[in-house]
Parts: sequence; structure tokens; C-alpha cells
Amino acid sequence: MRKLNVLYCWAATLCLGTTMASAQKPDLLIANFEGTNYGAWAESGTAFGDGPADGTLPGQMSVDGFQGHGFVNSYHGGDGSTGTLTSRPFKIQRKYLQFLIGGGGWPGKTCLNLMIDGRVVRSATGPNVNPGGSEKLQPAQWDISKFLGQEAVLEIVDDATGGWGHINVDQIVQSDKRLNVPIMLRDVTREMRIEKPHLNFPVKTGAPTRQVTVLLNGQAERSFDIELANGKPDWWAFLDATPFKGKTITIKVNELPDDSTGLSSIDQTTKIKDSKNLYHETMRPQFHFTSRCGWLNDPNGLVYFLGEYHLFYQHNPYGWNWGNMSWGHAVSKDLVHWHELPVALYPDKHGTMYSGSAAVDWKNTAGFQTGSEPALVAMFTAAGNPFTQGIAFSNDRGRNWTKYADNPVLGHIAAENRDPKVVWYAPEKKWVMSLYLDHHDYAIFESHDLKHWSKLQDFTLSGDAECPNFFEMPLDGDTNNWRWVFFGASGVYVVGKFDGHKFTPETKPRHMENGNCWYAAQVYSDIPSSDGRTILIPWGRLPNGDIFKGMPFNQMMGLPVELTLHSTASGAELQIRPVRELKSLRGTVHNIESRTLKPGDNPLSGIHGDLFEINAEIAIGDAKKIIFNFRGMPVVYDTEAHKITCLGNETTLMPADGKIFLHVFVDRASVDIYGGDGTLYMPMAKALSPMDQKLSLSCLGGEAKIILLKVYNLKSAWE
Ligand code: FRU
Repeated sequence: MRKLNVLYCWAATLCLGTTMASAQKPDLLIANFEGTNYGAWAESGTAFGDGPADGTLPGQMSVDGFQGHGFVNSYHGGDGSTGTLTSRPFKIQRKYLQFLIGGGGWPGKTCLNLMIDGRVVRSATGPNVNPGGSEKLQPAQWDISKFLGQEAVLEIVDDATGGWGHINVDQIVQSDKRLNVPIMLRDVTREMRIEKPHLNFPVKTGAPTRQVTVLLNGQAERSFDIELANGKPDWWAFLDATPFKGKTITIKVNELPDDSTGLSSIDQTTKIKDSKNLYHETMRPQFHFTSRCGWLNDPNGLVYFLGEYHLFYQHNPYGWNWGNMSWGHAVSKDLVHWHELPVALYPDKHGTMYSGSAAVDWKNTAGFQTGSEPALVAMFTAAGNPFTQGIAFSNDRGRNWTKYADNPVLGHIAAENRDPKVVWYAPEKKWVMSLYLDHHDYAIFESHDLKHWSKLQDFTLSGDAECPNFFEMPLDGDTNNWRWVFFGASGVYVVGKFDGHKFTPETKPRHMENGNCWYAAQVYSDIPSSDGRTILIPWGRLPNGDIFKGMPFNQMMGLPVELTLHSTASGAELQIRPVRELKSLRGTVHNIESRTLKPGDNPLSGIHGDLFEINAEIAIGDAKKIIFNFRGMPVVYDTEAHKITCLGNETTLMPADGKIFLHVFVDRASVDIYGGDGTLYMPMAKALSPMDQKLSLSCLGGEAKIILLKVYNLKSAWE
């Protein structure tokens, strides 16, 4: 687009010799931001600084594409700052409004708005990242012909504080001449009669975020952000359309270039679109749970009920990155083979659905039970403004959920307040709930009906934050001697006593794991006493965000483990072991006979595969180092320092009677290391090369002895 001023344009038009009657009216410049301040534009906040920027601001990616010397850049103070710039009213006198825009792609948060009568009638955002890594302002335009003659105001908004929390704008012009760039349309709709269960949306990670609303009879039923592909998608996200079967819905997109195929390519399918290879994509973990499509983080609502382990989880069904927090849902009979069900909890007027827990309401304390089976009740954080806690119930084994009409059941009490975890406290027939508040602070609550909560105590857990678990375990397996364990999202835990009103820790905080992909774990509720285990599933938070790049899913769960609690000289301590059900994955077994291990040996050389379980008991002898290599991932035991190291993570492993014991699981993107007396717990994530299917075991500096070495090729849990 040209940097022009109005007089120049008049002159140019006249020079071409066109008569005034047939000529396009000259362009009208609204603002080119060439002054030292914003002139007639009213400013609020700090993001826009004292006046137009003349280039890249400190800390910003290099900015180009603006015209002349000055342009609007809300990166003053970095992405964290906010503010608005508002123009004086002007009259709409041309068909198009054209401008240059760059920076954040957050609808409603980093945008240029055209307002008429106080309403936003057009809005445009930046694109977020630009190819080439620079922030190039790009030409954009709106068709404003239907507002001709009306008075309007422009507003430049920076209301975003995270990544790409700024907006760049320049050269705003009214013109009758259409530019050769797409016209941004607002509130574009399409009607569709729903016949099939999956409604597929094209996603291109990195494309501008659009807001999609699915309306039924004018009512918004679903609303989400999506990087809608304009053309060929990276993958297809699906929305569970079964609730709309036989009905006509309207799909509305807040903003779309007029050449976009984003809305027109949305289609319905019986099976998940493009799912031929589903669960077998190159890097797809084969026995760590992943969602079919989209993002996952924390496990939520872990509850066992009538033969099924429920795994709800923080889920973005429509994006590869975090967002649109909903509760995804899967069930399993054995904690290993999972069957995914539709999303259980969608965002609502109270906010998106952050983490929480679930329990069986055996005594119908909340009064939600309708049939002969008890209701499942979930308690979650609604991450609105502000965060509050709500509940929902299901009377059909978790298949359908109803939000409690009087949510929230606990209003906002402190900054972050989130992630409620409920447990039944039998001696007083009441519920006890732990909740994260802020910093390292948590609180414990009680309720008799899950609807009314009162605080029992505040509780600080040094070194941890978010996602509390507070539950009872037998000490040394003695069901007459119970202790309570409190742990946070990073796995810092304390053990102590709880009398129903006050928790008194008896141990110092300890870490329960030493891996690089463990966070926000949760223990199962309602494991039958005939089983009696304490079972935990963590989020396998990836240390490197790119491991599943190019796949339709992102992130994974950690393996389910069993916790036991043991007396030690320094107080009660947790031991962690993979659940026995994982044995069902075992295929071919390779039994390596007891033998001496010398430097240069590799007793595992003949074994190939991508999924393994390894049991090893090794007498360390006079070897200095014992080195495993699992498909390119080295795990080194230093026999003198008694340390085991993997990818820079290090933890102690004490030999017992001169022997170490390791229990390892190798999946496509991880090596889970357990062993010793149960305190070695190192879940390690890394993209293992599909080309490397080998294992090795060797030693350095002396000889060791293999006492027992068993390698199983594992089957995929998705078969
Ligand atoms: C932990 C967490 C929780 C929150 C959820 C949001 O990973 O930040 O505290 O509820 O994720 O997805």
C-alpha cells in the first residue's frame, strides 16, 4: 500500500487527466502516525508509549513493513503491557478501509476495531508469527460500504499480556479502490444440517486464531478459538456433533478473509477424518495415553467405577497447543488399553474447564442420583473472571454430564484458586477437598453435600504449586495404621496425620520423582478396598514442545504407577512402581542368562524393536560405570557415586547387597526408569529416532555381573 497524503493523491488523479465525474474519489488518510505523538488519538494504559514507534522496540523481534518513519507499536514495556488508542470520530465516505497490521493474533485482545454507535462492526488482528521470524506489518482491508455516511471511531486494542501480546498498526486510509488483498469479513456464517457424528475443522498451527461459535436456534452451544486453515490443513480437529444430530446448526466465524476455505471446508464424517493412521503416527506413544487429536495436559477426575477407570484430562480439542480448556475423557478396564469418549465438560458461562477431580457419591450426599446406581460427581475450576469452583454430575457411568445449576459451589477466595481434589472422609461422613490458592499456598475444605464448602485450614507446601492431592494411605501396608499424604503439581510431598479438621505433616517435603516429564499427577478415587492400591497418573509434560510436531496430537500422560508408603529412619516415604497391568503388553521375551559383563560386551545386541520393557538385576562388581542405551537414550549408572543419569537428570540409586535393580519401559518418545527399592522414579521424554531400534548394555572400568536380564518386546496398547 502506498504511503500517500491526500493532496498528493488529488494531484495525481488530476494529472492522469481523468474527469472528476468518472474518477475514483481520492483516498482519505485517517492516520499515518508520522508525528511525535498520537495527536488526536486518545490513549489509555502504557502499551502504546508516548507516541508512534520508529521501528523495533527493545526486546522485540525485528519489525518492518510499516510506511514512513512512524507506526503504532504496543510493545512498549514488552508483551505484558496493555492499553488502547482511540481515534476521533470520522465519517465513512469510501467503500474500503485499508491499513497495515502486524503483531498479536488474538481476537478481541490485540486488534484494530471499527466501532459504530459503540459497537465493534469490524475487527482485525495481527497474524502472530510471520514467516521469516520478523514482525512484518501486512496490508489488510475491510469492506465498509454498507456504513457509508455513518460516523465511526477506530480503536487499537492491546489487552493481551502473554506471548504476542502486542499489536502494530500503520497507514489507515479510506479508499474506493480495492487493494489486491483479501477483504476481512466479520461474523461469517454457514448453516449445516447435522447427520454425522463428527464435525471436522481444518487446523493449521500458526494460522491466525479465529473464534468459532456453533449456534442452535440462535443459542451459542459451543464456542472456541481455532487456528483455522485457509487451504490445506495440518490436521482436522473434530467436534462431537452427536448432540446436534438431525438439527440445523449455524457455524459462525468471527473474522475471515473473503478468500478463505476455512468455513466452506468444514464437513461431517462418520469416522474421524483422515484417521486411517490414527494412533499409529510415527511418534505416537504406543502405551502412554494420548488424545486422538489436539492438546492434553493434567489428568482430571481420576475415578474408578463399576469396572472402569475414568481418565478425564485437560484438553484442547481444536488446537495443537494449550487452549479452550475442556475435559477430555477416556475409559479403561485395565489402565493400559483406553477407549476415548466425547468431551465430558465444555467451557460455560463461568469459564473454561480447568483441572479438578471426581468421586462416586455412594451415599447420594449431593442428591444427584436418579437411578439405582450412584452418581459420579466432578469438581472443577471454572477459569472465568474470576476463577471459581463448580460441580457436575453423571448418572450414566460418566457418559453424560450435567453441570449443577447453582454453580459456583465455591466462589473466588484467592488469586489463582483452582484444581479442587475431593476425597471421602468416612469417619465423619463428609467430603474433604484440597485446593490450590496462590504461590505455595493451598487450603483444605470440608462439605457434607459437595455443594457447601467451609475452610478447615490453610496449608503451605514449600517448593510446589497447583494441583493438590490429599489422601490417605496405609503405612507399611498396615490397614490399621494410616497416614495422609499431601502433594503438589511438581511432586513435592509431605506425610502426616489428619484428624478430620487439621492436617499435621510429620515429614519434611520430598520429591517423589526425578524425571523430565512429570507434572500435575492425580491419584485415583474409589479404588475398591479389595484392590486397595493407590494408583496415580501424571501428565507426561514434554520438556521439548516439538516432540510431536507434525502429528495431530500433542503431549501425553505418564504411565500409571502404584504408590506405597513405608517407614524409614527419616519418616514415612513413598515408593513408586509401574502398575502390574502393564504386563499385558508383553510380547516376545528375551531371557539373557546370568553372566559376567565385561567392557565391550553387549548382551542385548540381537534385540530389535521400538517398544520394550526391561528388568535388570546387576551385581556392580568392580565396574566403574554400567551403561544402558535404549534406542539412542543413554542411562548411566556410576557405581562409586551411586548415581543414575539420563539426559542430564541425575538421582541416587543405592546398591543393595552390591546389586542394582532397574525396571524400564521404552515407548516412542520416552524411557521410564524405575528401580532400586521403589524410590527410583525417572520418567524421561525424548523423541527416539524411529530408525534406532537397538538396545545395549555395557560397562566401563571393570567387570559387572548380570544376575537377571529380561527384555520384552511390547505390543501397542492401541491394537
Ligand atoms: C497445571 C494447570 C492447572 C490448571 C490447568 C489448566 O498444569 O496449570 O493448575 O488447572 O493446568 O490447564
